[in-house]
Amino acid sequence: MSVCVVVGMQWGDEGKGKIIDLLTEKADVVARYQGGHNAGHTIIFDGNKYILHLIPSAIFRPDKICVIGNGVVIDPAALSEEMQMLKDLGFDYEGRLLISDRANIILPYHRISALQKEGASGSRKIGTTGRGIGPAYSDKIARVGLRTCDFLDESRLQETLRSNYEEKKKILKNLYGENLPELGEIVDQMLSHRDRFVKFIVNTQSFLRDRIAEGKTILCEGAQGTMLDIDHGTYPFVTSSNSTAGGACTGLGIPPARIDRTLGVIKAYTTRVGEGPFPTELHDDYGEQLRNDGDEFGSTTGRPRRCGWFDAVVGKYAVELNGIDAVALTKIDVLDQLDTIRVCTGYRHHGKVVDGLPASLPVLEQCEPVYTEYPGWQQSTSGIRCFDELPDNAKRYIDGLQDHLGVEIPLISTGPGREETILRGELL
Ligand code: GDP
Ligand code: IMO
Ligand code: MG
Repeated sequence: MSVCVVVGMQWGDEGKGKIIDLLTEKADVVARYQGGHNAGHTIIFDGNKYILHLIPSAIFRPDKICVIGNGVVIDPAALSEEMQMLKDLGFDYEGRLLISDRANIILPYHRISALQKEGASGSRKIGTTGRGIGPAYSDKIARVGLRTCDFLDESRLQETLRSNYEEKKKILKNLYGENLPELGEIVDQMLSHRDRFVKFIVNTQSFLRDRIAEGKTILCEGAQGTMLDIDHGTYPFVTSSNSTAGGACTGLGIPPARIDRTLGVIKAYTTRVGEGPFPTELHDDYGEQLRNDGDEFGSTTGRPRRCGWFDAVVGKYAVELNGIDAVALTKIDVLDQLDTIRVCTGYRHHGKVVDGLPASLPVLEQCEPVYTEYPGWQQSTSGIRCFDELPDNAKRYIDGLQDHLGVEIPLISTGPGREETILRGELL
């Protein structure tokens, strides 16, 4: 038995969906702890590709329980759509999908506000997914949010919406010239989605603690990644939640002492969607090659992902901050055709070596990466399942990354499918 947090170590899209789906074979419960439908987790098996935004990546394994935790922000329309997609595809979630009674709701005014704020931000634009994530978390912290438990009590739902409505309407009108739909329309929208998922709303916090007491294996599924964390990421170019491992405790109601293990997921190079500093970003043919060979286009918005070399400063920061015990390295096959591969092992600022990851955005933006070079292997690693079968230069690169991170890499992913994986040690 164990409780394991699975966390992204970069700026998201590290391949968490694949890794969680794979590990779920040995788990009983998978629980999402933060974020919302800004996430896009891809799972490929039996030749089919699925992208999940809100529902945990275990939903395709028939006997596993999936929890949407209190730390997640839920857009009822997006959740309904995802449930419908699963139904249409023939995946049954009855009795296996549990939604926290304490999760905050994304409302239509959050979505409008997210889009308008970005449009008006000029050079300070964050490049959000436009899903209303930031405004919904802002209302949660401001203590004016609507929560899932309010769906169990229609009068409470109406009352909360009514008490917020006039203020939101004025702000949107005066700042952005946007008209908010009538209050009755918003209430009706919420009620129409309610019927679809109200029966899944339970106290998932005590459910999870009970399963832990029974000795079940629980995976806590992080969305986004360490560098997008609201406290520890490249603020303000971050998301609005704690995507780092600590978020699993607050976002699920699991006591810190019950977490046994933290597993980090990291790509063999780096990508980022949206704006913000990215020291190892490539604007040349190498960057283009990584984007094409890695199919680096956003799972949620379809935007091209910015691509760059592996950044061991970021990796080491993620290891220390999250207390990572083991690393899953993904997309090694994407490097197959490169002649030379670079790894950033430190930053220089105005010629001086910087210690760790600078907090100041202007400083980080001015940092120059210090690189170590590795020779490429220029042969296919796609689908390899045994470490010994990898080309020698690929082995050297992986072991080099292991040394830079200071943590074992027991899992190496050589393709998007479940079976395209090398396991050379225990993960859970
Ligand atoms: P997540 O948000 O961390 O779950 O990652 P995404 O699903 O957004 O993006 C990862 C992408 O890489 C998806 O398209 C996966 O199918 C794909 N992927 C995952 N692992 C591998 C791998 O080892 N090799 C290749 N080529 N693709 C991978
Ligand atoms: P997964 O779980 C990559 C990025 C957005 C933007 C910033 C803030 O698939 O790894 P938001 O809509 O959250 O307010 O946007 O965060 N972002 C992601 N980037 N993967 C994600 O999720 C992301 N979720 C948000 O592009 O830069
Ligand atoms: Mg993603």
